[in-house]
Amino acid sequence: MTKPRVVDRRGMSIDLEPGSYHWCACGRSRNQPFCDGSHEGTGIEPVAIELTEPKRIKLCLCKRSGHAPRCDGSHNQIGAEEVDGPMPDA
Ligand code: FES
Repeated sequence: MTKPRVVDRRGMSIDLEPGSYHWCACGRSRNQPFCDGSHEGTGIEPVAIELTEPKRIKLCLCKRSGHAPRCDGSHNQIGAEEVDGPMPDA
């Protein structure tokens, strides 16, 4: 399995409406923090989020959270040199 890319060393707070979402676990999506299908071939699968009511969620961008898709502070253990950043434009 490919190692997830570290997009950033912080979580992203986002207001979501009820519905289904897929959090990007591989760090390759250009639509962070959500999946755009770029995990294909990595062996990493997105994590489904199902909401029945509007909710503010802090989603993980470092892709190392122990409680994915939510940020759990694990990004504090990551050094700046480990950050891959967002995927470059195709
Ligand atoms: S961004 Fe906070 S745990 Fe990943």
